[in-house]
Amino acid sequence: MVDNLRGQATEQGSINSTLNNLPTGKPFIADTLEQMKIWRLANGASWLAGKSEPGSKTVAFVPTMGALHDGHIELVRRARAQADFVVVSIFVNPFQFAPHEDFDKYPRTFDRDIELLNSVGVDCVFCPGEKEIYPHGRQSIVSVVPASPLNDTLEGSFRPTFFRGVATVVAKLFNLVQPHMAFFGEKDFQQLLVIKALTGDLNMPVEIIGVPTVREADGLAMSSRNAYLDSSSRSVAPVLHRALSTVVSAFEAKESAAAAIDKAKAMVQAEAKFDLQYLALCHGETLEPLTEFAKPFVVLLAAKLGEVRLIDNIVVR
Ligand code: PAF
Repeated sequence: MVDNLRGQATEQGSINSTLNNLPTGKPFIADTLEQMKIWRLANGASWLAGKSEPGSKTVAFVPTMGALHDGHIELVRRARAQADFVVVSIFVNPFQFAPHEDFDKYPRTFDRDIELLNSVGVDCVFCPGEKEIYPHGRQSIVSVVPASPLNDTLEGSFRPTFFRGVATVVAKLFNLVQPHMAFFGEKDFQQLLVIKALTGDLNMPVEIIGVPTVREADGLAMSSRNAYLDSSSRSVAPVLHRALSTVVSAFEAKESAAAAIDKAKAMVQAEAKFDLQYLALCHGETLEPLTEFAKPFVVLLAAKLGEVRLIDNIVVR
């Protein structure tokens, strides 16, 4: 198990003695806000110092809710290639789950996650507890509500408080980690646009970098929630990617967008196990609905397989 510096700062009495005793060669596990600050100080990694100041280092950040898979590891690899330091957060954010959703059963695989992150050379893992992030409870905090229609359309119409929860926790994490750049998967395409709007509209000096979706060999987009699929659901799940791909093929064959969307919906609905929530053709930057193919575009869907809700998309630029 990776060393945990839990409580070390206060036990040793001073930040300085903690700085002198940082372990090397393994990620620093910061499970309090204080430890995150200590790690930043120790490494001269400061948001405000900026890239060009002599001696200042760049920090790339990968926010996650844990249960890591190859999609997350790809984000870390991209981050590793672009910055001096890589920080990964693991925090299952209760604020972005509605009361009827899967917060309690969301997969938590902390020790395995740390081993994986250790193997890809992460410098710091920030894994605060709920009390650290929401000391007065999440009901009473100032929250960030993304603008409509991004907040309410597609995912937002099925999960009305989801993006408020995401934008709020990401704003908090950015303030605590103070990264120069942050990496998000394109699998959560609408979330990526929300985060770009968050940093753009609120003038946060963090560069947001989207990373293409990583897929299983049969096309299923990697997701922590795939762990919920039983074998019969897992065997039909790749239909989602096949349906999205037929829309792209129709575009390449110069066929009509409306017919392509209808055909893709029918493919999903032909499988009795699926409850298709939406399958839509939208502008690839604004998510405005499109009736004709025009680049950049994105085809997005959400479907439930029993209790398991899956989302996927393909972007054409
Ligand atoms: O995509 C996720 O894992 C989460 O929504 C995020 C961005 C870490 C915020 O909790």
